[in-house]
Amino acid sequence: MSGVLMLAQAAAASELITEATAGQVTVLEGEQVKSPQVVAQHLAVQPELVLIDATVDPSEALGISGWVVERFGAPVVLISDDASLGLQAMRAGVRDMLRVTSTPAEARDTISRNRRLAGSSGDAVHRGRVVTVASPKGGVGKTTITTNIAVGLALATQLPVVLVDLDLHFGDVASALNLEPEYTLPETARAALAGDPLALKPYLTRHETGLWVVAGSDDPVAADAVTAQEITGLLRTLTLDFAYVVVDTAPGLAEATLTALDLTSDLVLVTGLDVPGVRGLRKEIETLNELSMLMETRQIVLNFADPSRGLSVADVEATVRAKVDVAIPTAGIVPISVNQGIPLLQSRGNDKISRQLDQIVGRLVGRPTVETKRGLFSRRKESA
Ligand SMILES: Nc1ncnc2c1ncn2[C@@H]1O[C@H](COP(=O)(O)OP(=O)(O)OP(=O)(O)O)[C@@H](O)[C@H]1O
Ligand SMILES: [Mg+2]
Repeated sequence: MSGVLMLAQAAAASELITEATAGQVTVLEGEQVKSPQVVAQHLAVQPELVLIDATVDPSEALGISGWVVERFGAPVVLISDDASLGLQAMRAGVRDMLRVTSTPAEARDTISRNRRLAGSSGDAVHRGRVVTVASPKGGVGKTTITTNIAVGLALATQLPVVLVDLDLHFGDVASALNLEPEYTLPETARAALAGDPLALKPYLTRHETGLWVVAGSDDPVAADAVTAQEITGLLRTLTLDFAYVVVDTAPGLAEATLTALDLTSDLVLVTGLDVPGVRGLRKEIETLNELSMLMETRQIVLNFADPSRGLSVADVEATVRAKVDVAIPTAGIVPISVNQGIPLLQSRGNDKISRQLDQIVGRLVGRPTVETKRGLFSRRKESA
């Protein structure tokens, strides 16, 4: 853990903190604060305290505060003279508030008190990354891509990885991995409400690559009963012990998907090469922007990317107004691997599809991952 990080909105707040800390503070401002990638880089070194300036745009500051607390477990102090923000700040997990009209001595007191508290409670937990695969339309290859990402991450990083099937009604992750799970998502999500990763372990299914799996339910009534609160609890608990929590979703922005997106650090958006699918993707990106969903990385994967479909990668990029990161052509080996229950990245062929799937995985590794709090799963290779 090191130092104090400040996300500034105005000069008054950053001048106060710079004086109170005698310059011992890293200040991010302007565009830096608006970039989740830049902020995440600074949070990756686990600052002892994060000061978030809410003097210009309180709702943006509250949104960022919630994200910093949720995603990085970092202690946050909000800077504002508006006492009416107190309740919202508390809901966002903010630890304390500091008035921008405080004297430097008062600010110094607040900072050192909160640094001490954060150090003694030891609650600055560095959480694992949540990688969510989503698409507006069905049948575009989400599950195929998700299972390959999860197996690819487990094999490439040797870190603990768990795959969660959040396609509550039609999840088929277990079949794509040739698994027969004893427990499925509804029981697992209920067990997660206790917030203890140890209590969750018996509910997970182990894949031969070392990957852990929370399989989808085959009981529609039980699937309907799963609440957003249970899903949040499940994903948050898993991030305490897994370096990567990879999430497969149902098509569109169902409640379960939105709940996962709230906790997502890395988003993989998938589309097929057809006009309705590509337009749907543009709408989904616009919706996520409107909801100010903060993701550190986003990849766009174009599946079934064949020239014979009458659309080019450039057409897609022009419509979605974003770059296509990976294009995967149609190939017979894909349905064969799905039917056999052996993801391509498990059998490690040197074909074009595996190389494209590897690229998706490659863009996810090399980013800061979890330092497991208890190391419960981290030595799984030796104990396997
Ligand atoms: N690049 C590809 N080439 C050939 N077949 C593919 C390719 N990608 C996916 N498929 C096949 O398309 C079908 C649908 O894929 P998949 O189940 O992964 O899609 P999905 O988006 O998860 O669907 P759903 O929305 O129903 O969950 C599967 O049979 C899969 O084998
Ligand atoms: Mg699917």
